[in-house]
Amino acid sequence: MKFLRFSDVCTSGFARDKRVFIRADLNVPQDEQGNITEDTRIRASIPAIQMALDVGAAVMVTSHLGRPTEGEFKPEDSLAPVAARMGQLMGRSIRVVADWVDGDFSVAPGELVMLENCRLNVGEKKNKPELAAKLGKLCDIFVHDAFGTAHRAEGTTYGIAETAPIACAGPLLAAEMDAISKALANPKRPLVAIVAGSKVSTKLTILQALAKNVDGLIVGGGIANTFMLAAGLKIGKSLAEPDLLGEATAVIDAMKARGAAVPIPTDVVCAKSFSPDAVATVKAATDVADDDLILDIGPETAATLAAQLKQAGTIVWNGPVGVFEFAAFENGTKTIAQAIAESSAFSIAGGGDTLAAIAKYGIEKDVGYISTGGGAFLEVLEGKTLPAFEVLARRAE
Ligand code: 3PG
Ligand code: MG
Repeated sequence: MKFLRFSDVCTSGFARDKRVFIRADLNVPQDEQGNITEDTRIRASIPAIQMALDVGAAVMVTSHLGRPTEGEFKPEDSLAPVAARMGQLMGRSIRVVADWVDGDFSVAPGELVMLENCRLNVGEKKNKPELAAKLGKLCDIFVHDAFGTAHRAEGTTYGIAETAPIACAGPLLAAEMDAISKALANPKRPLVAIVAGSKVSTKLTILQALAKNVDGLIVGGGIANTFMLAAGLKIGKSLAEPDLLGEATAVIDAMKARGAAVPIPTDVVCAKSFSPDAVATVKAATDVADDDLILDIGPETAATLAAQLKQAGTIVWNGPVGVFEFAAFENGTKTIAQAIAESSAFSIAGGGDTLAAIAKYGIEKDVGYISTGGGAFLEVLEGKTLPAFEVLARRAE
């Protein structure tokens, strides 16, 4: 997909003294006092901003934070803590501008301002044309760098891309797309995907899309339980969706027809209750009792999957394969994480739980690309063209 890149706009010298409006995804988690508990997205958004400052642009950055009610400012919706953290990281102070839609503020070349939570503007969510028209007038260059919000067609993620004189992709958005195309469009094979999570229903379209492309589809968590049922195994009282057995079987068959496979666990770790101190028992997949809960894959299955991952050319990872938050049930996820780290495959990972597992096992540096997207990452895996890319590609024509 062809789109204009902000890095090229900067290299051409065009951005000097221009008003650059950057839409970042600074939607970070906060505790009850409003302290930022995890700042990956802030760090990941700085290169675009620095790029604009380095070429002498007048820089505006905005983001949503949470899901506030439009037109009703509440202190907890403010980007002020985000501006403070970003200021710390960049070694400068960042002014926060409220009520900015009509352009009643100034920003000088070489200056950086943060425009208050864009979801406070009336019409943002639904991308109202009146708002989009005003947004486009605020800048000479619009930079979309919010991969985490690239699946939303809102005022600052879509409308402004249509109304701004120039619309281009920031370095984070471009890097995310490059990494995902490297993994899915033109992968070094074998391509192995790990799709885990509690429900088949929430990831069915992803499983169906991947079944047409990947060489190995590793399922985990509640999703694996439904696949075990489809393979004729008993799963006791484990979480599963029996009404989706037909869909699971169709995925298995689609993979088989292409000479690929969905590996079904040969052993599992069971407990009688869902709790951190429940007694963990390793059982053959054929021995699960009626009152068992499957909370992890067993060591034999983990070793088989690890060997497969070490031979992969490309790995896509979304979801932990067991209840890795509980020590007794973390072995499967830990083994998979370590295998990905040790594999020479290009790996790409995304999703909140996956990022938590990566952090827990300290393998950040050994994963080829860690996505900042949650929902956006999943929609790309589903094979959807995200609104951000559709509009930027159209503007590049
Ligand atoms: C996210 O955190 O998933 C993104 O920032 C998108 O937020 P949203 O789901 O509120 O649109
Ligand atoms: Mg969300």
